[in-house]
Amino acid sequence: MRQSACFITLEGLDGAGKSTHVPWIEAWLRQAGVHLLSTREPGGTPLGEALRELLLHQDMQARTEALLMFAARNELWQTRIQPALAQGQWVLCDRHIDASYAYQGGGRALGHEAIRQLDDWVMQGRTPDCTLLFDLAPDLARRRVGRGEGGPDRFEQESTAFFLRVRQAYHERVAADPERFHVLDGSLPVHAIQDRLGRILQQLVDQFAGHSNGSTS
Ligand code: TYD
Repeated sequence: MRQSACFITLEGLDGAGKSTHVPWIEAWLRQAGVHLLSTREPGGTPLGEALRELLLHQDMQARTEALLMFAARNELWQTRIQPALAQGQWVLCDRHIDASYAYQGGGRALGHEAIRQLDDWVMQGRTPDCTLLFDLAPDLARRRVGRGEGGPDRFEQESTAFFLRVRQAYHERVAADPERFHVLDGSLPVHAIQDRLGRILQQLVDQFAGHSNGSTS
């Protein structure tokens, strides 16, 4: 029996709609019979969650921020994501490598090359199988953030210019690897986005799990 595990990541500006859709995507996949690990970056491990607290609330240099994002990523990748994929479990990760290219490479202006070097070192050429990018203009996204408890975090407090650079860097990632990305228009009504998500997820199930569901060949 063929066991193929799919590594799905979710990306987008703060406020673009990820948080609304994550529980829906998890539920959809589980209902389709997918054995799923759902996690997030930065975070997903005890060390990663401790780093997340620092990253979201403690002022630091841009390079320090990039290194801590990759430290959290390495811990999650080696201890949770890689073992899960190796066992045939699907992984849904709320943000991953593209966020570093977008936020640290673009937003913090560290540039693509600096992030690529860290990417090569930590991920060793492995990329997500599918990335869902929730795309929204920064001025619209801004109106939706900071509504949670505790007020806006370090990233949510950034300027519109910062988020324009983040969005631009995301679009460059899409242009460089169009087959991996699905760009979802975050300004559409939730049900319209979920219609599209359902079709994308069904395609993935057909592509990755089709040979292992009910087939013993
Ligand atoms: P986010 O998913 O927005 O958290 P929330 O649950 O509060 O919506 O992620 C936290 C922040 O981390 C987000 O502003 C983007 C930032 N981030 C980076 O800057 N670089 C990265 O590599 C990652 C993974 C996240």
